[in-house]
Amino acid sequence: MTGPENPQSEHPHPENPPGDPAARVRVSLAERSYDILIGNGLRHRFAIEVAAILTRPRAIVVTDENVAAHYLAPLEAGLAVAGVSVDSIVLPPGEETKSFGHLERLADRCLSLGLERRDTLIALGGGVIGDLTGFAAAVLLRGVDHIQLPTTLLAQVDSSVGGKTAIDMPGGKNLVGAFHQPKLVLIDPETLDTLDRRQRLAGYAETVKYGLIRDRAFFEWLEANGAGVVDGAPGGGARVRAIETACAAKSAIVARDERETGERALLNLGHTFAHALETATGYSDRLLHGEAVAIGMCMAFDISAAMGWTSGQDAARVRAHLEAVGLPTAPAAIGPPGLTPDAMIGLMRADKKVADGRIVFVMVRGIGDAFVTAGIEADVLNSYLSVVLD
Ligand code: NAD
Ligand code: GLY
Repeated sequence: MTGPENPQSEHPHPENPPGDPAARVRVSLAERSYDILIGNGLRHRFAIEVAAILTRPRAIVVTDENVAAHYLAPLEAGLAVAGVSVDSIVLPPGEETKSFGHLERLADRCLSLGLERRDTLIALGGGVIGDLTGFAAAVLLRGVDHIQLPTTLLAQVDSSVGGKTAIDMPGGKNLVGAFHQPKLVLIDPETLDTLDRRQRLAGYAETVKYGLIRDRAFFEWLEANGAGVVDGAPGGGARVRAIETACAAKSAIVARDERETGERALLNLGHTFAHALETATGYSDRLLHGEAVAIGMCMAFDISAAMGWTSGQDAARVRAHLEAVGLPTAPAAIGPPGLTPDAMIGLMRADKKVADGRIVFVMVRGIGDAFVTAGIEADVLNSYLSVVLD
């Protein structure tokens, strides 16, 4: 594997870069359609692919300190060689950066750099940078273009695709945001080699999600190949295949339901529970988003089993796989969240899917068969929460 230990020394001339994409997934949204390119080594082509679609050769790269240390200099150099005038803004890492304060500072910085309407913001990083930069692009000058260069597994399988952009509020995750599709998504799975294992696992939870909502065969493939996706396998093919499968699944759903009036809500399997747990733990390192999703997906399977919608075996099989790779599967795994069932239900009422005051959940009839319902019986929910939050 050509790991990016010293990416600055391996910056190639952009006229002859290695790393042709192994896969191309189209997100079909009429005039807002775009490509997702996936390939090991694709980072060597980031600049040339970006330069090819800019409206004018001017871009601002937004990234965080951790990602900048590995990938910013080669990207800046490549863009400069490709004739793009580029500035970079480096933000602190972590979920706290997805805030109004950082949005304001980022907007201010872009404007002071002379941002014009035909310029492009480039998000280089994980879901935090992607969501914040996408939202800034949605609102700056009433909308400028943006490109996603995701560098975490979570961002490569989920957040960089589909145009959901947002910041967190003290009362809940992602409560201020906009739908704003990127112009291009470029994914180099080799960038995961510099990401720590806990973060790769968090992204793996969102990968498993696609198997659980619509694709039992993909879940079964992950049961056999999950370790290769999380830790990297010789040749890197497992990661490319998992990311391509996830991006294809998400693209198809987004193409049918861009604004989440129906089917797209399935992508929130486990998220109603996850967002409540994240809010309760203060969006901190105590619980990463993907870890919360792993716990939330198990809660969805447990409650579906308690409602008689799925078998206890499927719930146990999902939990066994997530635990086998090393993900948490119950609130107790992160220590007592300090939540009563009533407090948890109160937090879940802040969810964007709440309709007519009723909490809407994604539940399952089995692995690969998710559905949306507001019909969880209150006593089933209360007694389940009182056990798992004890
Ligand atoms: P993140 O962006 O915080 O990145 C995790 C950590 O890894 C950070 O410290 C970052 O600096 C570091 N990092 C990133 N890439 C690296 C690399 N290649 N090498 C070394 N370090 C690297 O977290 P995340 O898990 O990518 O994203 C989580 C966010 O995504 C949450 O806010 C969540 O709400 C959001 N999200 C959005 C969507 C969507 O559709 N927009 C979907 C899922 C999740
Ligand atoms: N991650 C959920 C969605 O994009 O809809």
